Amino acid sequence: MLTVRAPATSANLGSGFDVFGVALERPADVVRLEKADRVTIEMTGAGSQYIPEDPDKNTVGAVAEALDAPAHIQIDKGVRPASGLGSSAASAAAAAVGLNELYDRGYSREELVPIAAKGEAVVSGDAHDDNVAPSIMGGFTIATDKGVTQVDADIPLVACLPDIVVSTRDARNVVPETARVDQMVETVGNAASLTTGMHRDDPELVGQGMHDTVVTPARAQLIDGYEQVREAALAAGATGVTISGAGPTVIAACAEEDRRKIASTMLDAFGERGVDARVYQTRIGGGAEVF
Ligand code: HSE
Repeated sequence: MLTVRAPATSANLGSGFDVFGVALERPADVVRLEKADRVTIEMTGAGSQYIPEDPDKNTVGAVAEALDAPAHIQIDKGVRPASGLGSSAASAAAAAVGLNELYDRGYSREELVPIAAKGEAVVSGDAHDDNVAPSIMGGFTIATDKGVTQVDADIPLVACLPDIVVSTRDARNVVPETARVDQMVETVGNAASLTTGMHRDDPELVGQGMHDTVVTPARAQLIDGYEQVREAALAAGATGVTISGAGPTVIAACAEEDRRKIASTMLDAFGERGVDARVYQTRIGGGAEVF
């Protein structure tokens, strides 16, 4: 019997659509795994009533199949599904790391990323590594078809999750199919600034690099109050604000001393639109831990 804590994550960070991701210190899923003859799943925690326990429809079922590692898997959700905080990826990451250890499969953390992504594909219809990579490896990750590059960055963050549901499928349908060259030039500059900021633990440079004029504006329409919350967070000292993953969570980078004020400002801004929200004062953290 093993217990794995796998962190929630934030993908994209504005300029790194489908590539960048960070592990969050909190919240996290806690998953208990016990060897069994077949895969069975038991769900508890945030939004667990909406997640199927059928192994064919749950992210962890595909992971167990890929590792040929049947188990009884109890998942205590720390973050609700369809939040933009890599909820399904956290469960898939925990299952991949835990089953690899339980069955002594010997895969490295990096090798487990595409295995966990198979679980992601069950719910999103497409395999993305940008959430599973940071949940497994921790820190800031750059996931491409050549593999994953990881940086142990330390940046304070605020993640504000409104009581709105945005499905990843819907959020992907509004992504523009083309971008202008000037937008491409700007995106390359911002992504490079963000990456440098992660290496330097510099919230100013990271925030600056979160700016995106291609995907984020299209998705913002799906989040009631996004512009107001973004402006309020920037006025309270956030160095950058964007949509976390496919949304609806709005994520802000900041200096440590501004974090509390930004968190309450973001909550208030959603409140003024009549939208309930919860906020996580967090930072970039480590990857999945086995107990
Ligand atoms: N990069 C993905 C997206 C994250 O924004 O659609 C969700 O899987």
